[in-house]
Amino acid sequence: MTAPIDVSMPLPGAGFGATVRLGKPLSEEMPSGLPEALAKASGLLLIPGLGEITARPELLLALSRTFGPEVEDYRYTLTAHTSVHAAVPEIFLVSNIPPVSRPPPKRPEPPLTADGRLPVQYPHRLGWHTDQSYRRPPPDISLFYAVTPVPRDRGQTLFADGTRAYEALPAHLKQRVDGLVGIHMQPGRGRSRDAVLRGDTPRPLQPHERPQLQPVVRTHPVTGKKALYLCESGQMDWIEGPFVGMQPGPYGDGAALLDELMTHYTRPEFIYVHEWTQGDVVVWDNRCLIHTATWYDSDKEQRMMWRTTVRGNPGALYAGEKRSWIPEEVAAD
Ligand SMILES: [Fe+2]
Repeated sequence: MTAPIDVSMPLPGAGFGATVRLGKPLSEEMPSGLPEALAKASGLLLIPGLGEITARPELLLALSRTFGPEVEDYRYTLTAHTSVHAAVPEIFLVSNIPPVSRPPPKRPEPPLTADGRLPVQYPHRLGWHTDQSYRRPPPDISLFYAVTPVPRDRGQTLFADGTRAYEALPAHLKQRVDGLVGIHMQPGRGRSRDAVLRGDTPRPLQPHERPQLQPVVRTHPVTGKKALYLCESGQMDWIEGPFVGMQPGPYGDGAALLDELMTHYTRPEFIYVHEWTQGDVVVWDNRCLIHTATWYDSDKEQRMMWRTTVRGNPGALYAGEKRSWIPEEVAAD
């Protein structure tokens, strides 16, 4: 018998998401009902109190498998080996601790809003993205586990609800996004908005690194609901994009539309701010949410988080596609 789970909706201070409490500690026998809870909660679950994962990382992999048929093995996806867990290669390390040495995001300027709150809305808050949207088919779900979070008030993860943001779009914007296609790009290739504004020379791209087209409005394959699917500076292509059929580059009408959409998408009423506690697992659905990380003091604080990525159900649009991010010679093996 699987233990019943206790689900309470929504997440504190938000209009979506749910807190899930498992009836017993995590073991080989995985809880049931989690994917259904995720779909009901508009794609965001907090499962607190799973500190047992630190000593038994394979439990995070088993938990991830309850959400979909395939968990990415980072050994085979061109990931720096220093960011891959030594014993469970399906775990990606997000940490400022060497040898991972990933710096935290910059602090927003100014650090607080005029009324003293944590900035959440674009463009005061930046870095909004959905994981690996530069791949086709894109992944479905991410799990993020706090091994060593930093203290509260920093190092948070912010989520925006793409389903409600789409539903609340003013009519003129809804009309513009239906059928619109975004051009998504892996960060660090000299094609981000900032890189283009600086005049960086873009790196030559291998075929498997090329920008990928994604609909700005995605229909969720489980719930059937439409959601906005969009990133901003670092994860769109600012040379050919951000949108197909609109003026490209940071000063075009595509940029103006992206700014308008992203400002709407991240309005405070669509946001959940997660303050991390050791042992938390947060599960999010990349098909209908965006997220971003916040600053912490990397000189004084150490943070270690583990992420897994689940794929296999991107929707009918992607049916039968080859994976864009696997080089031909590897795909042929
Ligand atoms: Fe992410």
